[in-house]
Amino acid sequence: MKKILVTGGLGFIGSHTAVELQNAGFEVVIIDDLSNAKLEVLNNISKITGKTPEFHQIDLKKKDQVVAFFENNTIDGIIHFAAFKAVGESVQKPLEYYENNIGSLVYLLQEMRDRKLDNFIFSSSCTVYGQADELPITENAPIKPAESPYGNTKQVGEEIIQDTCKANGLNAIALRYFNPIGAHETANIGELPLGVPQNLIPYVTQTAAGIREQLSVFGDDYNTPDGTAIRDYIHVVDLAKAHIAALNRLLSKKNDTNFEVFNVGTGKGSSVLEIVKAFEKATNQNLNYKIVERRAGDITAAYADTTIANEKLNWKTEKTLEEALLSAWKWQTNQV
Ligand code: UD1
Repeated sequence: MKKILVTGGLGFIGSHTAVELQNAGFEVVIIDDLSNAKLEVLNNISKITGKTPEFHQIDLKKKDQVVAFFENNTIDGIIHFAAFKAVGESVQKPLEYYENNIGSLVYLLQEMRDRKLDNFIFSSSCTVYGQADELPITENAPIKPAESPYGNTKQVGEEIIQDTCKANGLNAIALRYFNPIGAHETANIGELPLGVPQNLIPYVTQTAAGIREQLSVFGDDYNTPDGTAIRDYIHVVDLAKAHIAALNRLLSKKNDTNFEVFNVGTGKGSSVLEIVKAFEKATNQNLNYKIVERRAGDITAAYADTTIANEKLNWKTEKTLEEALLSAWKWQTNQV
């Protein structure tokens, strides 16, 4: 059985990926510092799969903790999710973001190099494209200057990995996620935003649940059919499965070059108002919303060209937007 380390494995995408790894027959080891996740997620993973992953509470920006882990564990691949991810907070606390997101990445790669470990998958983001000149966005679209320190950690992270692949023969894949939403169909795991949600779907579900009074739709004067901004919302379970596909590509040595990037989205864009309507229809809820000013830093439209990911990863999305919204709602109503 191949043993896969999932850093940040108790977080939103990490926990769904841990489940899919176990379902695919991998042995999962999770590292999480619990800075933005709860330990009970571990039990909730095992409720779904019947198996509790091995868990280590480790702060990856502490080099001695990273070294100690690798001294005692041999692993066949790493899926690296552990990172801070709040765009606004990163503007206020750039050094914390660089220390956490870049420091932990460097320490992991050093251990991989020194111990001759291989197969690294990195959580990247479509944020690296900024407002792309052409839609849908292909992997060859130019990288635009980052809008935030968070976005910069993804760009620099990719560069650090690419340099390491070149110098040390590491094989790695960066997955550029579009907008992950939804939850596991069992509603045992899902997104747990701290405080007031910044992302659209948790704000929508919390508003429908009566936790928030009203959803603010940020701007209806964009150059789009209904004036609201367009994104590519992908079900988190489909996204999790893309990691298994990428891992299998590396383990079976089918990668074309030792550093590859793939877009992970549905290929379909939805506007904010389309999401509101689709949510209302899928869940039979009425959503209280109003149009307000644009949010600073937001782009007009982003959705993926998934041709290369579909072909090379032999992966495609299986779930609909409605299923994703319904699963997010089921997860929300399951929270006490
Ligand atoms: C954001 C991050 C991105 C990150 C991604 C993770 C920014 C600028 N970008 O993407 O780097 O990778 O989350 O999921 O924060 N919206 C509303 N009302 C709300 C919340 C959002 O109208 O209360 C709109 C936004 O203006 C946007 C869309 O909904 O048009 C999606 O927003 P969000 O879920 O925050 O994702 P992104 O901004 O695309």
